[in-house]
Amino acid sequence: MTPQPRPHLLRSVLYVPGSNPKTLSKAPTLPADGLILDLEDSVAPEAKPQARHTILETLRSTRAGYAGVRVVRVNGIHTDLWRDDLAVVLPGRPDAIALSKVESPDALDQLTAAMRALDPESDCELWPMIESPLGVLRAHAIACHPMVSTLVMGTSDLERALGIPGDPERIGLRHALQQTLLAARAAGRRILDGVYVNIRDPEGFLAECHDGARLGFDGKTVIHPAQIEPANQAFLPGDEEAETARRILDAWNAARARGEEICVVDGRLVERLHADQASQRLARWRMAQA
Ligand code: COA
Ligand code: MG
Repeated sequence: MTPQPRPHLLRSVLYVPGSNPKTLSKAPTLPADGLILDLEDSVAPEAKPQARHTILETLRSTRAGYAGVRVVRVNGIHTDLWRDDLAVVLPGRPDAIALSKVESPDALDQLTAAMRALDPESDCELWPMIESPLGVLRAHAIACHPMVSTLVMGTSDLERALGIPGDPERIGLRHALQQTLLAARAAGRRILDGVYVNIRDPEGFLAECHDGARLGFDGKTVIHPAQIEPANQAFLPGDEEAETARRILDAWNAARARGEEICVVDGRLVERLHADQASQRLARWRMAQA
């Protein structure tokens, strides 16, 4: 059974360290489209047992009233931590489990089996993180796993594995970003861009958001409250774009009423596929207005 992705925008999804009660209580008050409550790299080994319970509390307190997506990132399948992570947080009914460093669908089978053993009714989505060369090469098989709704790029780990510096144009990451994006789309999944680690560089962050939006990502994972609004703007069709979409749809509907299948708007050919595209863009814009 493939979980139906919840009809959410995912323009900005905020990582929140599971070991920091202050950030955990602040996170649901912020305008991110979702939260990734983290048990992996932002939590010290000795803090993980307590962090599991703190995250469980956050899940319970946000079950009603929080409009965004609640995701927990558990430790990788190669560790002896993920089973305990899952056992503690699953009763909090997260919307999804993000699994770090996924390199094959087998890891997702193991996670699904453990989830079903804990809760046979669980309809929790899986968000595998693609953050290694092998993960990128196998991204399509990973994305096709029936429980997967969303892929998440882990660009910091990927840069380290590739031995490339964090360069503003992301030249060394380009191929991996595009290949993983193709894999996600071929499987009909959503995909989020990686984080921008310099939290005091708003211009650099915004440029990277626009880069991700141009590449076709649904949104960006972010690490700091100041990164949320710029990401929400960058991954949103603007008012002008929405207006153009509306005119394309009107013109195409008028053409259809005349029994025609094509028309021209602002000097550009409009066929059914452009009308569909315009309609999707308008739906995203409306969702963001609501
Ligand atoms: N989620 C929720 N709240 C956050 C936050 C986050 N990720 N990052 C910062 N905040 C809060 C702070 O608690 C602070 O709250 P306050 O004004 O009520 O005191 C406010 O935002 C401003 O924070 P600031 O002082 O600018 O940052 P900081 O020095 O406290 O924290 C980081 C900087 C990078 C340590 C922090 O942003 C962080 O932990 N980010 C997430 C890291 C992570 O999860 N990494 C794993 C995935 S890559
Ligand atoms: Mg990582």
